[in-house]
Amino acid sequence: METTFASSHSLFLFFFFTTFISFSFATTASTTKPHRLAIKLIHRDSIFSPFSNPKATIRERAERAFQTSISRLAYLQAKTGRPSSYSFHSNDIQAGVIADNEGIQFLANFSIGTPPVQTLVTMATGSDLLWVQCLPCTKCYNQSIPIFDPSKSSTYSILSCDSPSCIILPRDKACDSSQHCNYEYRFIDNASTKGNLATDVLTFESSKGTTTIPNMVFGCGHENEGMTGRQEAGTLGLGYKETSIVYQIGSDKKFSYCIGNISDPSYAYNQLVLGSGAIIEGYSTPIEIYNGFYYLNLEGISVGNENLNITPGIFDRTDSGGGVIIDSGMTYSALQIDAYNALSVALEKLLDQILEKATAPPSEPFKLCYKGVVGRDLTGLPVVTFHFADDADMVLDEWSMFMQYNEDVFCMAVLQGDLDGLSVIGTMAQQYFNFGYDLVAKKLSFEVIDCEVLA
Ligand SMILES: *[C@@H]1O[C@H](CO)[C@@H](O)[C@H](O)[C@H]1NC(C)=O
Ligand SMILES: *[C@@H]1O[C@H](CO)[C@@H](O)[C@H](O)[C@H]1NC(C)=O
Ligand SMILES: *[C@@H]1O[C@H](CO)[C@@H](O)[C@H](O)[C@H]1NC(C)=O
Ligand SMILES: *[C@@H]1O[C@H](CO)[C@@H](O)[C@H](O)[C@H]1NC(C)=O
Repeated sequence: METTFASSHSLFLFFFFTTFISFSFATTASTTKPHRLAIKLIHRDSIFSPFSNPKATIRERAERAFQTSISRLAYLQAKTGRPSSYSFHSNDIQAGVIADNEGIQFLANFSIGTPPVQTLVTMATGSDLLWVQCLPCTKCYNQSIPIFDPSKSSTYSILSCDSPSCIILPRDKACDSSQHCNYEYRFIDNASTKGNLATDVLTFESSKGTTTIPNMVFGCGHENEGMTGRQEAGTLGLGYKETSIVYQIGSDKKFSYCIGNISDPSYAYNQLVLGSGAIIEGYSTPIEIYNGFYYLNLEGISVGNENLNITPGIFDRTDSGGGVIIDSGMTYSALQIDAYNALSVALEKLLDQILEKATAPPSEPFKLCYKGVVGRDLTGLPVVTFHFADDADMVLDEWSMFMQYNEDVFCMAVLQGDLDGLSVIGTMAQQYFNFGYDLVAKKLSFEVIDCEVLA
């Protein structure tokens, strides 16, 4: 895959790590039992984000969500199977959104080092290392906050080549002349991050207090190339590999996140919980972890009480691709083409009765678009339910299925996938849910929740 797919977008190629030790918590709060390790998640377009553009119109936001979703789908398809039929090379897609192929949707704010220095990184379920840019830079992009300087942290320590955490292939690259452990992640467009595999203290602050965790393994990237347009300090990978923070925090290997209204720029309660405090509640369905991604077993889709006529097996993952993943980096969802067609025909039948189609779809491939306003015209529309294995039903109302395109046109927020294509549960569909990942039990739990009650 890596060598045959030459394209202009980010894709992790190398994972070089195997064993990791477990770490214990040290909390500075006065409570006796450790409290939840909660991290506020900042949506990229919210007023709390340094990267938001408050002047963007509804239409500009919708186009952007759409373009970044296409790029993200192409990235995910390339990484999980065959390339997408959506073009990587369209100028439209590249203009200004290159940085988003890694799925910059939610930013996590915490600190590294002693004394703690603030960092702001992208949360990525499809990546598996925490890495940040580090001084001195052989090559760094301009980030919005000062670049981490490990020489100023008294607790920073580069892993030595013979540490248990540095069994890395190939040996010659992983180990430099001073016996320091190195990492390298190379993306599909030849962008890369390279540096030392190191440990330091991470400090998480929440309304309930401060939690510090010593000795967390992370990548200190001194050479970060080709990441045009990125502004955040790095990536917080939540994939299931030994390198991931999720793997290192306690023996529980759990995390959860709660997402509220992503169209509301002042929504302040999105949050990520790492470790044993993760909220694992509600319906439960198996997750299969493959290539670092979280696959779900989607058994059917219904609109209202009507099950769509979908051939069993079309959502199965095969060697050439397919399957259904849940992703924190894609706004829209995507469905394999037959399922997409069945869903859009069913919704079209309902919508044609109450609304007028938007004459020309505003721009291809916004396919199913109507004149109207989601919050006004779709009240009472039958819900769409994704039926996952073990009777886990994800019920989606109009806010999760449709996105306002401009003042008076809205479109279905689902992309049409390929025949053998990947399906993706995107963040529009994940709004108003808490998702709990238990990576030992290999279960995803979810329930509808108001994230504010967790704050
Ligand atoms: C990140 O957290 C720090 C400390 O809690 C705070 O001062 C800063 O404003 C936060 N940054 C963002 C972008 O929310
Ligand atoms: C980074 O910022 C500096 C100073 O503001 C500027 O001169 C330089 O061109 C910027 N580099 C990139 C790649 O944007
Ligand atoms: C990546 O680098 C290799 C070797 O330098 C080159 O052959 C290839 O065309 C590059 N790919 C892209 C997408 O720039
Ligand atoms: C989400 O936020 C948008 C923008 O503030 C608002 O118009 C909409 O009503 C909200 N949706 C829900 C379900 O609260």
